[in-house]
Amino acid sequence: MTQSKTPGAVPHHIAVVMDGNGRWATRRFLPRVAGHKQGVDSLRRCVKACAARGVKVLTVFAFSSENWNRPVDEVSGLMELLAMALGREVPQLLADGVRLHFVGERRGLSEKVCAGLAQAEATTAHNSRLILNVCFNYGGRWDIAQAAAALAARGEPITEQSLDRATALAHVPDPDLLIRTGGEQRISNFLLWQCAYSELFFSDRLWPDFDEVALDEAMAVFASRERRFGKTSAQLTQDAAGPSTNSSSHSV
Ligand code: FPP
Repeated sequence: MTQSKTPGAVPHHIAVVMDGNGRWATRRFLPRVAGHKQGVDSLRRCVKACAARGVKVLTVFAFSSENWNRPVDEVSGLMELLAMALGREVPQLLADGVRLHFVGERRGLSEKVCAGLAQAEATTAHNSRLILNVCFNYGGRWDIAQAAAALAARGEPITEQSLDRATALAHVPDPDLLIRTGGEQRISNFLLWQCAYSELFFSDRLWPDFDEVALDEAMAVFASRERRFGKTSAQLTQDAAGPSTNSSSHSV
């Protein structure tokens, strides 16, 4: 958890809904898949920029549980793009200290794609500069349901803590900042459980146009927000001043 309202405060974990690839392509009279290809370039730029700014975790929504409902050629285009991106990007990610995690349901993906995901995770497993979670065949409701089902199957009680540990992003703290590009202002079944206290930032830029300047703007807005986590503003000021200010009645 990153407290902000500190000039220059860097979010530990940024999550991104990379929306707008289709419109980017359509405006150029290109097939939608061309927009997704440009989206991969934008993702590469974003990963580098996050690492350079000290962000430790970046989680992106690459393919939702609902994206299966898109035209068949777009779905197969996205699958091919994933396979191609793995082959092309992993060596550089490895060199840049990025650890890859694929988050989502593997069932439904081809054996070839699953093998590629496992290989990319194993290859980058020793990196620690930046964790890149790529949510693929992921939905927030799926995540909560699979976590509850896993606990039930093991006969474990369902509590906030146990459910949290069973979710697909249990290996990282919750996102501090959620960015959605493309002008829409909704969560679209992304990290429903994990974004309970994330700061939300909506950008009108289409994902292929989301560059370092746009990222810096989002991070500056984040740094200006007061994150209260249910407390009052006065309590936060008191917490920041340290434990001594209100200790007389509790002294031993
Ligand atoms: C939403 O834009 C974007 C997606 C459904 C795919 C996101 C994928 C990438 C950025 C490429 C990275 C992917 C892989 C495979 C690693 P949209 O198509 O809904 O755009 P629109 O709202 O303009 O139609």
